[in-house]
Amino acid sequence: MSVTDDQADQRTALGGPGLPQERRLVTSIPGPRSRELADRRTAAVASGVSSSMPVYAVAAGGGVLVDADGNSLIDLGSGIAVTTVGNADPAVAAAVAAQAAQLTHTCFTITPYEGYVEVAERLNRLTPGDHAKRSALFSSGAEAVENAIKIARHHTGRTAVVAFDHAYHGRTNLTMALTAKSMPYKAGFGPFASEVYRAPMSYPYRDGLSGPEAAKRAITVIEKQVGAADLAAVIIEPVQGEGGFVVPAEGFLPALQEWCTANRVVFIVDEIQSGFARTGDLFASEHEGLVPDLITTAKGIAGGMPLSAVTGRTEIMDAPHAGGLGGTYAGNPVACAAALASLDHFEHGGLVERAREIGTLLLDRLHAAQASDPRVGDVRGRGAMVAIELVDPASGEPDAALTAAVARRAAREGVIVLTCGTYGNVIRLLPPLAIGDDLLSEGIDVLLGALADS
Ligand SMILES: Cc1ncc(COP(=O)(O)O)c(C=O)c1O
Repeated sequence: MSVTDDQADQRTALGGPGLPQERRLVTSIPGPRSRELADRRTAAVASGVSSSMPVYAVAAGGGVLVDADGNSLIDLGSGIAVTTVGNADPAVAAAVAAQAAQLTHTCFTITPYEGYVEVAERLNRLTPGDHAKRSALFSSGAEAVENAIKIARHHTGRTAVVAFDHAYHGRTNLTMALTAKSMPYKAGFGPFASEVYRAPMSYPYRDGLSGPEAAKRAITVIEKQVGAADLAAVIIEPVQGEGGFVVPAEGFLPALQEWCTANRVVFIVDEIQSGFARTGDLFASEHEGLVPDLITTAKGIAGGMPLSAVTGRTEIMDAPHAGGLGGTYAGNPVACAAALASLDHFEHGGLVERAREIGTLLLDRLHAAQASDPRVGDVRGRGAMVAIELVDPASGEPDAALTAAVARRAAREGVIVLTCGTYGNVIRLLPPLAIGDDLLSEGIDVLLGALADS
């Protein structure tokens, strides 16, 4: 089907919330233009880089993404929890344009600039705990995690690091070692960084343990298999992302933090996916009053521009020697400008409250679906970070094939949903907080319809 002039105008002229907030399919999914681009891609792009959606994006904003054929899809993924403030948000776009017209790069480690300092000041103020803090900025989430480990090792003079079952911390060499799942993240890419150990996670749906019980199990593994004396850091996602939106049982995280403090082990909370209002608190750590020694952030921080950070206790952050931390693009000025505009939204735009409203809407709908469909084994999450785990009702075994079929069917109907989980059987919802209730409800209608038909 051809694209009308109006649609063509729209895809070249508009992004941001000015886009009509509607699901509108004018071709089958993928349409001819996306198929054409897929052919070019096959001939040009390395096949190890894959995409879960078959459509090529040209504009996005509010709760929709418009593809190259003029189809308007409901976005329930936010580019993996990145466009939390909305895609092409006008304030972010204006800040980016103004900064890009002024200077695009100097390298903070050569000629510093104010935007970097201001992002650091604001992260120091906004992250949990009122102790003295410092921040260092980077570009990707994995880079922030790598640097958090470097800092913790330097501070403690110890080498070992503990991560958890189902963890995801990135795809660089050290972060692959921290990440739990082999396929697709690690298989064939070893050898991995050494001195990384894995402890059992609290996964209430699958282990049935209380938070304190699960913490005792994890701490026993750490003490017996690693030893506190050699342990630099424990790193954990307060709500796991790629691993399946696993929400640990209440009490698990505080008990771990307490053990780390008692043993002078740096407690690193990876809020790269869960941070910035996503879970209905500015940081998921706040839910149980955690005060991490170091916190890693990225994704939602800058409305889609690449920026990440490590923020934490001054005495830990200041341990490495001058020149020990940095990177050519780390804390790029355009990304910092985008972050400052995004942080304004997080601080003053009611986004924490909006995430809670979205959470109530999503959980109500999904719990109702669970009551009538035994394949929905678990519904979990907080705020705008919510998931369903799909299982074979007879055995309780994960049903990855059903999960993939539901996501594919929803995509064909014009709704972007992402899957995740160690067993590939979790559908996760991460809508932009700029989405309206009607569009969100319609997206859930389509998702649940796809489940019913699969
Ligand atoms: C919790 C967590 N840590 C680290 C990362 C890695 O971030 P990036 O892909 O920006 O390197 C991710 C990405 O999904 C994540 O969810």
